[in-house]
Amino acid sequence: MSQYVLQAQDVAIHYGGVKALDGVDMTLEKGQIRGLIGPNGAGKSTVIDAITGRRPLTRGKVTLMGQDVSHLGAVERRARGLSRSFQRTSIFHGMTVRAQVELASYKMGMQNSAEDAEAVLRELDLDRLGHIVAEDLGYGEQRRLDLALALVGRPQVLMLDEPMAGLSVKESHDLARHLKALTSKWDVSVLLVEHDMDVVFGISDVITVFELGRVIAQGAPAEVRANPRVREAYLGSTA
Ligand SMILES: Nc1ncnc2c1ncn2[C@@H]1O[C@H](COP(=O)(O)OP(=O)(O)O)[C@@H](O)[C@H]1O
Ligand SMILES: [Mg+2]
Repeated sequence: MSQYVLQAQDVAIHYGGVKALDGVDMTLEKGQIRGLIGPNGAGKSTVIDAITGRRPLTRGKVTLMGQDVSHLGAVERRARGLSRSFQRTSIFHGMTVRAQVELASYKMGMQNSAEDAEAVLRELDLDRLGHIVAEDLGYGEQRRLDLALALVGRPQVLMLDEPMAGLSVKESHDLARHLKALTSKWDVSVLLVEHDMDVVFGISDVITVFELGRVIAQGAPAEVRANPRVREAYLGSTA
C-alpha cells in the first residue's frame, strides 16, 4: 500500500489542441499541505478538476488511498473522501449556516449529520453564526462556510481553489490557521491553490509550481523560493 493518501501520475487533460495539463505527477501525504502556484492559465484549476473527477483524463491515473479512482465520477470520489472547493463559493445564500452544513452532511449520507455538521462548525468557529442566513455573513465568513461544506463527512483530502481570494490579510491568516489546525487535528491532506504568496509559503509543507500545464518545480518552500526558474517564471522581482 502506498504511503500517499493521494497520487496523480502522468495526468493529462487536452482541450483539442490546448494541453491544459500534460504529464503531471503529484502526491499528498497524510496531514500534508501542498501549495500549488503558477501563473494564470497554468492548469491549477484543471488539475483539481482532473483529480476530483470533474473532467475526464486524456491520460494518466489518480490513486486515492491506494485505490485507482481514475474511472469514478466526482460524486463517488467525494464519497470516498476526496473533497474540494471552487474558485467561486458554493454556498446557499438564502439558508442559515447550520441548516446548510447539516443538509450537506445529510446528502453525503452521514447518519449523524447534525453531529458531523456541529463538529465542522465548531472547528471553523462558525458555531456561533449557525443561525445566520448565509447572505448576511461577511465575505470572510462566507468563505469559511464554503470550506465547512467541503468538510462534511470528514474527507481525507481537501483541494482548495484560491480560498483566500477577496479576503483581507487578517481573514486570510485566519483561514490559514484553520487549515493548519485541520491538518493536525483531523489528519486532512490539503492541496492549496492560492495567489497569496505569504499564505502559501507560510503554511505549505511542500510546494509545486506549474507553468503551461507542467510541473516546473517542486519541493520545500525555501527550496522553491530559491529556484531560479521559478523566480523567473512566476515570482518575478517581488519575491
Ligand atoms: N473548458 C475548457 N475548454 C478549453 N480550454 C480550457 C477549458 N478550461 C480551461 N482551459 C484552458 O486550460 C488552461 C488551464 O486553465 P486553468 O486550469 O483554469 O488555469 P489556472 O487555474 O492555473 O489559472 C488555460 O489555457 C485555459 O484556457
Ligand atoms: Mg484557476
